[in-house]
Amino acid sequence: SQSAFTYVDGVLHVEGVSAVTLAEQFGTPLYVYSRAALTDAYAAYARACAGRRASVHVAVKANSNLAVLNVFARLGAGFDIVSGGELARVLAAGGKAENVVFSGVGKGADEMREALDAGVKCFNVESIPELDRLNAVAGALGKRAPVSLRVNPDVDPKTHPYISTGLKANKFGVAFDEARATYRKAAALPHLDVVGIDCHIGSQITEISPYLDALDKVLELVEQIEADGTSIHHIDVGGGLGITYANETPPEIESFVRTLLERIETRGHGHREVFFEPGRSVTGNAGVLLTRVEFLKAGEEKNFAIVDAAMNDLARPAMYQAYHAIDMVVPRSDASKVYDVVGPVCESGDWLGRDRSLAVEPGDLLAIRSAGAYSFTMSSNYNTRPRAAEVMVDGTEAHVVRARETVRELFAGESILPR
Ligand code: LLP
Repeated sequence: SQSAFTYVDGVLHVEGVSAVTLAEQFGTPLYVYSRAALTDAYAAYARACAGRRASVHVAVKANSNLAVLNVFARLGAGFDIVSGGELARVLAAGGKAENVVFSGVGKGADEMREALDAGVKCFNVESIPELDRLNAVAGALGKRAPVSLRVNPDVDPKTHPYISTGLKANKFGVAFDEARATYRKAAALPHLDVVGIDCHIGSQITEISPYLDALDKVLELVEQIEADGTSIHHIDVGGGLGITYANETPPEIESFVRTLLERIETRGHGHREVFFEPGRSVTGNAGVLLTRVEFLKAGEEKNFAIVDAAMNDLARPAMYQAYHAIDMVVPRSDASKVYDVVGPVCESGDWLGRDRSLAVEPGDLLAIRSAGAYSFTMSSNYNTRPRAAEVMVDGTEAHVVRARETVRELFAGESILPR
């Protein structure tokens, strides 16, 4: 998917469009996505699933722009949602509720109602109180809710602690040792239909072994649950496959999918449907954040390149010390210096890249890479900064898929006291 971002005559292009033109036309900071890159990444999942009972539910939280969701919907994708808001986005983008799985540790009764009314494919339930709530909500609507339990296989995904989710110490899922009993409880509730099992062990995972360890534990559990008389139609292996931000070498999407499907088959579970919930691996390297250098500032210990994007636009560096490659849109041949690339927000944590070698001048454009996942979706209005515009490039055309916010919009819902 990186091939959608190439230099042509010394200028970074997104597919057939110059990033300089994009910045001039739409302003900065600017999120730019490539339709081809989104399509290629999804197609890799689809190819590896072809001919199997397997489906791909794109995790909306990674990138919830309607145009992005619509590109996936047109390719036949399903979606993994975690809120009523994400459900509304999927439906507005042309996705079908029957291809939606509803994940999340704290679903509200209203959200459950909306999802039942829409007719989602499955609720991934994470606790007994959630089972009880869903049972009550479904009963009141005269419906039955399809459920799978998210089990916590207690494996270490070897990723950043903030995005590990399958360890005992995490808030997610039903503890492995309690899963069998929890399934019995679910099966006994009158307004629930147990249909599957799921797990999700973390994000930005760059090795396949934690997946295989988790899968083996899940399959063992499936056999026990079926021995108790409840049949499991599908196994949802979650998302989490990592991407290359710097030097990481995650498995290729196709080989990752094939390896998991093979393991499921070899272990005698090939008749079950398999779900995948990728977010980052289908959107992450399909986007960049374009930003312009405002000032260069030589500090006593460090040089700073102050740019017009900030932690409110891209929170990952501040939140997780995450690395995003930063490239010149029009590279200069001058000698480079080492800079911290920082935003205008009033926090020392407002940095986008540290110790980057750049030959840069004020007014130059930078491209912050791998900004298609957990980037715009995690942006905020801190410091009353309107959120950036989003553009999707499709061949030689660029479409604004989210207008830049205006300051007026930011406080439109606020009011002052009457006296
Ligand atoms: N399924 C479930 C239940 C999830 O919780 C997640 C992500 C996914 C699927 C998709 O995972 P992915 O394929 O994108 O790794 N904000 C963090 C990432 C948080 C991930 C949360 N869950 C970041 O910026 O790195």
